[in-house]
Amino acid sequence: MQLSLVGVAHAYGDADVLTDITLDIPGGRILCIVGPSGCGKSTLLRLIGGLERPTRGQILQMGRAPEGCLNPLTYVFQDFALLPWRSVAGNVRLVLEDHGLPGAEARRIVTDVLARTRLSDFADALPRQLSGGMKQRVAIARALAVNPAVMLMDEPLSALDSQTRELLMDDLVALWTRAPFTSVYVTHNLAEAVRLGHRIVVLSRRPGRIAEMVDIDIPLAERTADHPDLARQQQHLWSIMRDEARAADSELVDG
Ligand SMILES: Nc1ncnc2c1ncn2[C@@H]1O[C@H](COP(=O)(O)OP(=O)(O)OP(=O)(O)O)[C@@H](O)[C@H]1O
Ligand SMILES: [Mg+2]
Repeated sequence: MQLSLVGVAHAYGDADVLTDITLDIPGGRILCIVGPSGCGKSTLLRLIGGLERPTRGQILQMGRAPEGCLNPLTYVFQDFALLPWRSVAGNVRLVLEDHGLPGAEARRIVTDVLARTRLSDFADALPRQLSGGMKQRVAIARALAVNPAVMLMDEPLSALDSQTRELLMDDLVALWTRAPFTSVYVTHNLAEAVRLGHRIVVLSRRPGRIAEMVDIDIPLAERTADHPDLARQQQHLWSIMRDEARAADSELVDG
């Protein structure tokens, strides 16, 4: 399934938050959205996920959801959003309930996604027994369990320390390399964007519009931290984002 945004704009009351967003989200690719704080990144994700309706423009879904898809659009949030009283397997199983799956099929899916996210040994653990990185792996397993057409990720690594963030990026690359999924991945971190994004969109300060869009052809598995082309891309994107972030920052200071 491919998503296309055509002339999308959004306002909360009188406040314009996003303007003139035209953009394709290619199937089987990771699209990263970066931009200064408050520029409308989470709003854009909510519009794509159908949690809000755009004030203007259209969001088109083309093609079919993948085979076995139980939920076309799923979220992964910064704060994991796990139920504390449910085990790891129980949190994943939760999203399969209400789909009328036979018990054996639900168990197969849970076993499969826990194996893919390296959580098989922790199926019975409770969230409070897990590190932050493991909690986020549970949230990713839960999102993958419904075999979504598009996985919507809102700053999924921002609550984690830098080492854990590196490990989770390796995990995401491994997951994607084994079974490419489609994702819209919001981050304020350009290093994350150039590591994970096939396409990177930089939004301007509010009201967010597309300031830059680049495609990076280097395979994810080859994107080492010291890759010279990536360093160049990151520098280029930062030069654009820095100006927007500075301007946004002085607007806030000026009230
Ligand atoms: N439900 C809402 N009602 C009114 N204003 C809102 C609402 N949600 C967000 N906003 C405002 O819209 C703007 C964009 O918010 P949004 O959360 O989309 O930005 P963001 O780029 O995700 O920010 P951050 O980098 O801080 O996560 C902000 O000024 C915010 O205060
Ligand atoms: Mg946000």
